[in-house]
Amino acid sequence: MSSYTHGHQASVLRAHSWRTAQNSCAYLLGSLKPDMKILDVGCGPGTITIDLARLVPQGHVTGTEPTAAQEPVLQQARETAAQQGITNVTFSVGDGYALPFADNSFDVVHAHQVLQHVSDPVKMLAEMKRVVKKPGGIVAVRECDFATMTWHPPSERRSKWHLMYDRTARANGGEPNAGRALLSWALTAGIPRECIETTIGTWCIASQVDKEWWSGTWADRIVSSSLAESAIKHGIATKPELEQMAADWRDWCTAPDAWFGVMHGELLCKM
Ligand SMILES: C[S@@+](CC[C@H](N)C(=O)[O-])C[C@H]1O[C@@H](n2cnc3c(N)ncnc32)[C@H](O)[C@@H]1O
Repeated sequence: MSSYTHGHQASVLRAHSWRTAQNSCAYLLGSLKPDMKILDVGCGPGTITIDLARLVPQGHVTGTEPTAAQEPVLQQARETAAQQGITNVTFSVGDGYALPFADNSFDVVHAHQVLQHVSDPVKMLAEMKRVVKKPGGIVAVRECDFATMTWHPPSERRSKWHLMYDRTARANGGEPNAGRALLSWALTAGIPRECIETTIGTWCIASQVDKEWWSGTWADRIVSSSLAESAIKHGIATKPELEQMAADWRDWCTAPDAWFGVMHGELLCKM
């Protein structure tokens, strides 16, 4: 069993709500058709899900989270959709290991930054493959590769944060370097190699607006989220150490030359 490293506290949802279809699944957009039926597994606050719904105006998008305990984040996603006037989207409970849908149900089955948090990503990919239409459907997955994160200016405390996150995610049963493992997981899940297109996508955090948002969300998450609780519980960091890492993140965005980048592995599996 894995436990979701970040949790769904306000600091985490603020970070994940920055995500759009453009900045988080550009590799998929060229394959969408206006009447497609899409499933977004592990949708979180649903900003990508809602954007996908906008791109399939005659279609429908379903976002799922694994258990009823995630009902508050699903409700937040529903409210965001209503505020934006998007009606062709629904949010419901659905565990990625046992999706409550029949075989061959969706044109696209998508997951963004979910497989890195689960203990059996191959099983989840096999389940995504089950519910996608065959032939012709698409399984689309994108995962960051934590070790590829790079930043400027250098800082010892940020290097400690990076190591702390890696160790905490692993202690929770996840794989923070999931981006590089995606192809291997998909092949093990039985997706034929000739169906799979692999790409790399990036996030570059360099504008002042993005830097202030990024440093603020990390600073908050380090001290007040499930990540902080897990790091302390597993003896990976103490509360004062986490507070130092958070202070370092707050300082980072004040440097005019501050810059942060990360690589993501992406797979489009055309079944
Ligand atoms: C990092 S968040 C990504 C949220 C969203 N996809 C995005 O990119 O904004 C990972 C999400 O996966 C969900 N998750 C974890 N285990 C899951 C499972 N077994 N089935 C479905 N979702 C799961 C978590 O609850 C969390 O909301």
